[in-house]
Amino acid sequence: MYDRILAPTDGSRIAERAGEHACELARRFGADLSVATVLEDDDRERAERAVDAVAEHATERGVDATTEILDREASVAETVIEYATDHDVDCIVMGTQGRSGLDRFLLGSVAEELLRESPLPVVTVTEGADPRPDLERVLVATDGSDSATAATDHAIELATEAGATLHVVHVTDALLAGERETVEVAPGEEIGTDAIDDVLERAQGTDLETIHTAVVPGRTHQAILAYATEHDVDAIVMGTHGRTGLGRYLLGSTTERVVRFATVPVTGVRPEPGPTTTVEYLDYQVLEEQGWSLEDEDLFEQAAEADLGEDAYGTLEVEQGEYVLDAAEAEGEDWPFYCRVGGCVDCTAAVLEGDLEMDENRQLSDEEVEEKGFRLTCVGTPTTEEVTLVYNVKHHEDLQDRVM
Ligand code: FES
Repeated sequence: MYDRILAPTDGSRIAERAGEHACELARRFGADLSVATVLEDDDRERAERAVDAVAEHATERGVDATTEILDREASVAETVIEYATDHDVDCIVMGTQGRSGLDRFLLGSVAEELLRESPLPVVTVTEGADPRPDLERVLVATDGSDSATAATDHAIELATEAGATLHVVHVTDALLAGERETVEVAPGEEIGTDAIDDVLERAQGTDLETIHTAVVPGRTHQAILAYATEHDVDAIVMGTHGRTGLGRYLLGSTTERVVRFATVPVTGVRPEPGPTTTVEYLDYQVLEEQGWSLEDEDLFEQAAEADLGEDAYGTLEVEQGEYVLDAAEAEGEDWPFYCRVGGCVDCTAAVLEGDLEMDENRQLSDEEVEEKGFRLTCVGTPTTEEVTLVYNVKHHEDLQDRVM
């Protein structure tokens, strides 16, 4: 499944460790290995030392490796992605700071950008991870989304090619769920949980004979990691979820949390980009200044005719599965937020047309969601082709006492 693997390195200990894993994967799958570093500060000697260190591991493992020193084109991650796509690379293996970084919230900006932007699978290896796992048990976590489906197909292929057992985990809301249910089934059978049944269907016709399935209650990333530890899993495969991040550094999605705390390599797989949603937005503070109201039927017509700046009124495109707040920030907008995990009201928007689905909501009441159309933009993804919303609704009198 892998004919060419790319191991980017910056010469750090973690990058070398990831390089060892890249060598192991290349050996196992008979792939060629490219070891690359991005030239920084014109320090060619340092760059050569970095690639040579990983190439030595490759030689020891009997793997063909070529080394490259890349001139930096844009960001380091973009340079790596451009090289990978130009050279028929099948996956990128790289190290991350994980929990031992300067700050537990830092994954490493290059790793984060690669996970977010790479069209190719990205295997991340933290400092504590075993770089040469046996690859006997592969876990795929699924929530039934398109992102998870892409990961599912990759995990099925990985488990099949490696002769490994596939474990499929679906995490449910801890408050709603009962006991953990685990069951071993054959591909094509059903267990009555849509997200898992979809995996079983997709595994039909492969060489996998038995699949271990588990419906697990709890907080998603913790439940996945606990399952992986208990079942001695060697590799985790998960979908990546569009753009995330506060200033591109704070980790938002489940996948990034799993990457950060995993003690085994984690493969992030990005789904093919789907259709985008056009979000027309308006700043709530403009309503207050202009004497307009959320109930005005012609609110957005008035906004379109008023001479408002792009920060106050405009449109933005949101990718499938992408959070609206992330999409706004990617466009350079500065919308309010506080926790980014569904635990406050600071990022609230009032959705007037279309809809957003929230991954989490621990602050808005049912009435605010159903009757006022309030949604949390930090965890809200569009479910309609067009959405019209007023952001900055934290200034609404109903939310004042809950603003952080
Ligand atoms: S910023 Fe707290 S829920 Fe969105």
